[in-house]
Amino acid sequence: MGKIILTGDRPTGKLHLGHYVGSLKRRVELQESGEFDKIYIMIADAQALTDNFDNPDKIRDNIIEVALDYLSCGIDPAKSNIFIQSYVQELTEMTFYYNNLVTVARLQRNPTVKAEIQLRHFDSEDKGLPVGFFCYPISQAADITAFKATTVPVGEDQLPMIEQCREIVRSFNRTYKCDVLVEPEAVIPNNEICRRLPGTDGHAKMSKSLGNCIYLSDSEKEVKKKVNSMYTDPQHLTIDSPGHLEGNVVFTYLDAFCKDDYFAEFLPEYHTLQDLKDHYTRGGLGDGTVKKFLNNVMQAELAPIRERRAMWEKDIAGVYDILKAGSDTARGVAAQTLSEMKAAMRINYFDDAALIQAQARAYAKKDRR
Ligand code: TRP
Repeated sequence: MGKIILTGDRPTGKLHLGHYVGSLKRRVELQESGEFDKIYIMIADAQALTDNFDNPDKIRDNIIEVALDYLSCGIDPAKSNIFIQSYVQELTEMTFYYNNLVTVARLQRNPTVKAEIQLRHFDSEDKGLPVGFFCYPISQAADITAFKATTVPVGEDQLPMIEQCREIVRSFNRTYKCDVLVEPEAVIPNNEICRRLPGTDGHAKMSKSLGNCIYLSDSEKEVKKKVNSMYTDPQHLTIDSPGHLEGNVVFTYLDAFCKDDYFAEFLPEYHTLQDLKDHYTRGGLGDGTVKKFLNNVMQAELAPIRERRAMWEKDIAGVYDILKAGSDTARGVAAQTLSEMKAAMRINYFDDAALIQAQARAYAKKDRR
């Protein structure tokens, strides 16, 4: 059996650098590796509704943003099948059967869901916890297994989802004595910084609500402004005083994005990031110089993404055509898996001529008695 990727994002906002280093960049590398027979990238609108059901227009408006972000990062529709979750209705049917295989206690133990419940105040008495939200890990297992995905490139916070999916696969195959479903593996960034890129203000995570994000769709000017306002080292009061790297976002971003080649291009006095760090910690290197360098690095990284985005923005109808074609393909694949599942579960009554014959025979015998 070949190797198959499935992954996706909720369309609740534009994608930012945290998404990029945490997952998008890796997807493009995997896409280009030629190692995978099929790649499915899903815009998880139905999952996004589990905590935005009262604001469907937010989802509606962000589908195109996420699609543009994908295409501009280098997801190639000729190699990767991009689709919309809600269009593939087989996924909800699978979820219904998987619901039987998961206990409430098991869902309550999922640490990501636990944290998200608190974040959304679903644990408060007046709000309460919507069943749809509570169960979304089960629906996520359907997303993955419908495509028999072997590989799921995601951010670190998604590991508990993949673990739960694996349990569902084992439980299904064991209960229905089959090998219809495939156990997936998560792929997370191998670099600690890329797993959790901090916000420009030094907060542990980039997040829209904290206003500390650099978006893939930000203009050159916006990126520059955000780099200039980045949190550095509050004790680094004069150029001559020694600077600290710990918690210094400018250096964290350089760790995530800088390649040695950029020194020759933008800051030839240094050869490696270590040279630059050594000078900074020794004293004598100002934040302004480092920020200017980081800005150049970020612009170099983002320029090709920005150019591709501008191109696709001129063809929005074409982007929707890509999504529609991808969704049709995805539906075909999910329908095939669902029919195998239903056969294994012995609920494929009309496809099973032997069932009808055997029962007809049994009843005929009963008449003769
Ligand atoms: N939960 C993922 C997120 O919030 C999105 C998602 C939905 C997903 N279904 C998926 C990711 C299946 C990987 C596989 O980003």
